[in-house]
Order: sequence, then structure tokens, then C-alpha cells
Amino acid sequence: MLSTEQKKTHSGQDYLEKEILEQGERSPNQSLFPLTAKINNHNCLEIGGCDLRTLIKQFGSPLYVLDEATLRSACRQYREAFKRHYQGPSQVIYASKAWSCLAIASIVASEGLGFDVVSGGELYTTLKTLEKMGRTSEQIAQQIYFHGNNKSLAELKLAIEVNCTIVVDNWFELETLAQLGNQTASMSIPILVRLAPGIECHTHEYIRTGHLDSKFGFDLYQLDTVFKYISQQSCFDCRGLHAHIGSQIFEEQPHQDLGEVMVELLQKAQSYELVLQELNIGGGLGIRYMKDDNPPSIEQWVKGVSRSVMKACDSYQFPYPKLIAEPGRSLVGSACVTGYTIGSRKEIPQLRTYIAVDGGMSDNPRPITYKSLYCLVIANRMLEPCTETVTIAGKHCESGDILIKNTQLPQTQPGDILVVMGTGAYNYSMASNYNRLPRPAAVLVKDGEANLVIKRETYDDLIRQDHLPERLLS
Ligand code: LLP
Repeated sequence: MLSTEQKKTHSGQDYLEKEILEQGERSPNQSLFPLTAKINNHNCLEIGGCDLRTLIKQFGSPLYVLDEATLRSACRQYREAFKRHYQGPSQVIYASKAWSCLAIASIVASEGLGFDVVSGGELYTTLKTLEKMGRTSEQIAQQIYFHGNNKSLAELKLAIEVNCTIVVDNWFELETLAQLGNQTASMSIPILVRLAPGIECHTHEYIRTGHLDSKFGFDLYQLDTVFKYISQQSCFDCRGLHAHIGSQIFEEQPHQDLGEVMVELLQKAQSYELVLQELNIGGGLGIRYMKDDNPPSIEQWVKGVSRSVMKACDSYQFPYPKLIAEPGRSLVGSACVTGYTIGSRKEIPQLRTYIAVDGGMSDNPRPITYKSLYCLVIANRMLEPCTETVTIAGKHCESGDILIKNTQLPQTQPGDILVVMGTGAYNYSMASNYNRLPRPAAVLVKDGEANLVIKRETYDDLIRQDHLPERLLS
């Protein structure tokens, strides 16, 4: 904890300098700022060589600013760590639910990662990206895993057409797929079976997905029946098992335990003459949102998981399966910041000072949904000491639309640029048009260049899907 004196005097600069000094030792998920963050000669925050104030002038406000170097570095750290620590084959797939768009998908694909998609929309985005990148249909098929607890018939048919691996979640889906598969004699549908392994982890209740009371996956007690059913259907090419135990996890033990449990189950499938060669351990590694957060590095996480899987395989004399991890947050979370422009101020004596920005719960619904905490700086006042405690309010007509409560800031003026860190994961992807706010633009920054990757919505975009029946016109 900072002392009161430290709180008064620390500036954006102090904490950025400290961050930058330590950055060399950190993996992107342990860094509060994107890896290229700097304070430039104008004392302004710069990311990817681009001045935040200039970016906002050019592209408008609010603005998502995505640092290519941080995203690429996280992708590489995952891939290289698996190569270093796992002695079998491995694949890292990006959980696109964290942020699915053409530019991110293409960066991730160019780093050699595959994709976890959970809807026809995410599948379509990924397909379009890979097609534009000139990937062959075989390459595309190998790169995509399709998840979801209630895939529609149309989604299943699209997945079969693409020939990607379908992560089967429940009986309804398994039987629907068998029906589709058995319509054609030679059909072979690649599948993984999703399990609810019953491993708890300490994270926010709403984002736990792996414990027994979960809407996802087959319960362990059903596994024998599932294996038996699959082994009797010639249309299935069952490749392995999948589980995901939760998100924003700092502990290493749950994933290591999961590795062990899963190997035992892979081995169990042998009695049904199923040769399962893939083990998908899910995602979930946390990122550092606040100074006191202390997630393990990507390297450390991969090392722990790899060791536990290899150890379990050795003890069962089971060949090392293809080990798949599907991180989302720890790939893209720390790579992005959101820049807002400060507007009104309301002071309630002896109670609170509110400073309002030009976005809020529509571009970042995480604080109101999960009480998530974020760090921020004022991009154009990086050298000024923090002298007041304020609460950052969004502009939506909702009292709970508070981005950050009781934070230390320098004295600000309307027009200043407030920057919230760590907004790459589950911000744009969960954004809405609440109060008919157009969704912000996103720019990709690298070596002083900024490219628009998502256009700002216009008012016309907001009414594009509206339809006014003729009879309402009079
Ligand atoms: N695989 C599966 C099957 C998942 O359900 C998830 C996330 C992931 C991988 C990626 O997990 P990650 O590495 O990003 O932790 N909206 C919430 C997070 C929901 C996570 C849902 N599943 C939030 O904003 O915190």
C-alpha cells in the first residue's frame, strides 16, 4: 500500500517509470501498461510511438488504442514457452470472445496461433480473416475449435462445412451431430468432448465455468456413457477432451490439477477403443489490472501446466497428447488502453468529487457487471503530482455507471485525456449501444504509426437495423 504522502505526490510518471524499469522482467499479463508505453518530450503518454492526445485528436474520443507489440509478445511467449517446457506437440488458440475482429485475428494468426470461437459470428470473423490471409481450407480447418453450450443447427452445419473441430458440450449437441454426420456415409466430424471437471478456482462468481454447478460440459459421471456413445458412431473423429475452469485466475494449482485429471480421463477412453490425442486445458490466466495484482507470468503458467500433464502421462504410461491452451485475456488484455476526454465535474462537499468522461458502461461494461477495478492516468499530465481523490463517472443515464471509484489524480481540466489501462479483453467484445452511444473506434499502434482497425459507429449505424413499418408514418 502507498502511504498518504506517497499518494499525494505520485504522478503518472512515477508509476510509469517504475513499470518501465520492471517491464523487462515482466510478461505482458503482468504489466499495467502496454509494453511500449513511454512519456514523450511533451510529457504526454505515448503508446506504440503514438502520442495519446494526438491520437484522440485524429480519431476522436473515446478511443481504444491497441499496441501491436504487446499483443505479439504475448502470443510469442505462449508459443515459445510450450516449445520450451512441453515435450509433446502443442497448440495455442486465441479465445476470440476476448475481442474478435479482423485485425486482431490476423495478428494472432500471423503469430501462429489458432482460434477458439463460440458463435457463428466469431467463426465468420475468423474465417474471413484467414481467407483474406490466403490460408487454405485445410489450414483453416486445423486452426479453429468451435465451442458453445447451445450451438444452433445453422452453426453446427457451418462448422461441419468448414471442417473445424467441434467442442461438443452436451447430449443434445452430440445427438444432433450424430444425425447430421450419419446422413453421409463417409462423414468424419472432428470433435473434442467438453467436461465440467469440478475444479473450483478463486475468481468472480459470474465467470466461473468449470465447477459442478456449471452450464457447460458433460459431468464426469456421464463420461462412460458419452465415450460409449461416441465409440458407436462412425461419423465421429473424437480427438480428445476439453475443460475450462474460469477466468482471471492467479493461482497456478487449479490448472495443474486439471492437467492431471484430464490425463486420467484420456487414458480412461482407451477402454472404449477411443484413442484420444488432444488435451485442451482452456484459458483463464489472469492479468494485472491493479498495482497489487500478481498473476504468474505466461512462461510460469505454461511451465506448470506442461509439467503436470507430462508427469501424469508418465505415471499412466500414456503418450504425451497434443496440449492445447486457449487464453483470451492474457493475450490481448494488457495490449489495449481506452482514451476518454474529461468533461463535467461535480463536487459534493465532504463526500465525493465526480469527474465525467465521454464513455462508460457501453464501452467498458466490466466495472458495472463484475465490479472490476482499473488503473488510469491523465495522458497529458503525466508529470503532475496526484493531489485529489475523485470518482470517474461514465456518461450513461445510470447511477451505477462508474468506471473507477476513489482514484488519485492530478488536478484536471475539461478536455484532458483520461486513459484507462488493461481494456483489451472483454471491453469491445462486450460493448453495447446503451443510451444509443455509438461504439468507439479502435486503432492499432506500432512504431509511431496508427491504423484504424475498427471504425467509430455513426448515428446512421445506430438506426441501420431499425425498421419503421409504413402504417406508423401517418
Ligand atoms: N475457453 C473457454 C471455454 C472460455 O469459456 C473462456 C472464457 C476462455 C477460454 C478464455 O478465458 P480467458 O483466458 O480470457 O480468461 N466476460 C468476463 C470473462 C468471461 C470469460 C468467459 N470464458 C470478464 O470480462 O471478465
